[in-house]
Amino acid sequence: MRFIVTAGPTREHLDPVRFLSNPSTGRMGFAVARAARAAGHDVTLIAGPVALRTPPGVRRVDVVSARDMLAAVLAEIGGASDRQRVAPPLAVLVMTAAVADWRPARCAKTKLKKGEMSDTLKLVRNPDILKTINRSIRRATTGVPPVAPIRIGFAAETGVPDAEAARKCREKGLDLVVGNDVTRPDSGFGTSTNRVTLVTPDGRTQRLPLMSKLAVARRIVAFAERIASNG
Ligand code: CTP
Repeated sequence: MRFIVTAGPTREHLDPVRFLSNPSTGRMGFAVARAARAAGHDVTLIAGPVALRTPPGVRRVDVVSARDMLAAVLAEIGGASDRQRVAPPLAVLVMTAAVADWRPARCAKTKLKKGEMSDTLKLVRNPDILKTINRSIRRATTGVPPVAPIRIGFAAETGVPDAEAARKCREKGLDLVVGNDVTRPDSGFGTSTNRVTLVTPDGRTQRLPLMSKLAVARRIVAFAERIASNG
């Protein structure tokens, strides 16, 4: 199967030397890419700015902002038919990326001087990548199918993630949401372990014990393989 995995933070620049971002390190997404490749799948990893080595055999596309990431995901999905001769069709989109929801309304071309900056920053909403993909899949499936990919999202919450993960599963039309509490020392940004809750659209919730991010990644890949084989 063909996996597209997004990973890491996005950066939303207000000038060439300043940006808004978050502490995501990309470890969970890179683990998913590694696990999918090890299971024999074709993997494209769309990565925000992170300091990690690309897992062997994985094709990597680097992006900076949420809009770059959206364009890269759309290009991968749109490019499926061109790549079909050399790669299997898109089957799975795993959105582990911590996408910034807002960006500065303006990005200056050159460094802003203190004297030029106001004390308040005007922000505008970034596109929601999963919701945009859902719209583009609906449009595409009115013509000749691309079959809609299996879509897996994450919900990084400050507190018990179950209810928010279920809401995101519904609102973003996902096949699986992986929720975690990022305030826990063993499950936060940059840790090598994760303690996650899996939420499916039928409302079922499964809490997994503390495990390595690679072990969580293997569960996610196995889940996608199961859905694909059940049709
Ligand atoms: N996501 C996305 N596009 C965005 C923001 C998030 O596709 N602009 C994806 C993330 O990659 C993740 C899922 O949506 O798989 C949930 O992300 P999260 O930041 O937890 O949720 P939000 O949609 O930002 O909702 P809220 O701000 O209410 O927590």
